[in-house]
Amino acid sequence: VARSAFAGLPTLEVKDTYKVGFAQTESNNPWRLAQTNSMQAEAEKRGWQLVYTDAAGSAAKQVADVNSMIAQGVDLIFLAPREEIPLIPAIKAAKGAGIPVILLDRNVDQSLAKAGEDYVTFIGSDFIEEGRRVAEWLVNNKPGGGKIIELEGTAGSSPANDRKEGFDTFIADHASFEIVASQTGDFARDKGRQVAETLLQAHPDADVIYAHNDEMAIGAISAVEAAGKVPGKDVLILSIDGGREILQLVIDGKVAAVCECNPRFGPKAFDTAAAYANGEDIPGKIINPDNFYDASNAADLIDTAY
Ligand code: AHR
Repeated sequence: VARSAFAGLPTLEVKDTYKVGFAQTESNNPWRLAQTNSMQAEAEKRGWQLVYTDAAGSAAKQVADVNSMIAQGVDLIFLAPREEIPLIPAIKAAKGAGIPVILLDRNVDQSLAKAGEDYVTFIGSDFIEEGRRVAEWLVNNKPGGGKIIELEGTAGSSPANDRKEGFDTFIADHASFEIVASQTGDFARDKGRQVAETLLQAHPDADVIYAHNDEMAIGAISAVEAAGKVPGKDVLILSIDGGREILQLVIDGKVAAVCECNPRFGPKAFDTAAAYANGEDIPGKIINPDNFYDASNAADLIDTAY
């Protein structure tokens, strides 16, 4: 997207320092805390003021948080929209108030809001690719096929929608694999455990659990053990995020493979805001590269994880 494509968006003045907002979606897991730390550390490094809010898992609160940032007159808003649709009016309200928005990590429904028109850009991982890479690892490493339980992330969120699409599309082309159940665990450890327990009872022949994040994968380990089965042996567990705790579980043999979702947004987010102020060209999507972990590299890479 060339600079001219931002014609309808508020501009950002070139200044020595800025007051920027970061509207976080929730703080109930190490991935979110790593993302927040990265944003706060970068703001401090640059001497920018950061107005931080935590929506505590509520899209309605996150809308109110963005509106409060607008009322406080921040220069720019970084937003991690909890779900794809409910935050769109808040994005448009920021635009109407002359405040540019940069989406971080989660995206919005592309038929309702667009980069270069409603917000500057999206910075984050390719979630479809994350799901596809996990499915590809499974097909390459479990030659006999398998019956899969899928633990989905927060309903209506872009990582849940896209990680499902990437994984399910790849699996659909491999007839020896079947997704026997797919249900949301809301990206949360205990919900993931509860849902996995129920689904393992309904599908005792399931031998794979694909969780859309580490928290639910860790919950699933407890569910597998509660069912009297051995994680990593009777049931293969696959995850996305790649925090330190899950990498230790890969080393311990309880988790088979994990696609990273890189949470270190600070430097890229603030660089992009500065580039926008300078009138530089900014693509509509800036994709973070993600690593991939299994037993072959987890021990070597655990010290790089958050
Ligand atoms: O949007 C990224 C996802 O949200 C991470 O996988 C998850 O852990 C977080 O809550």
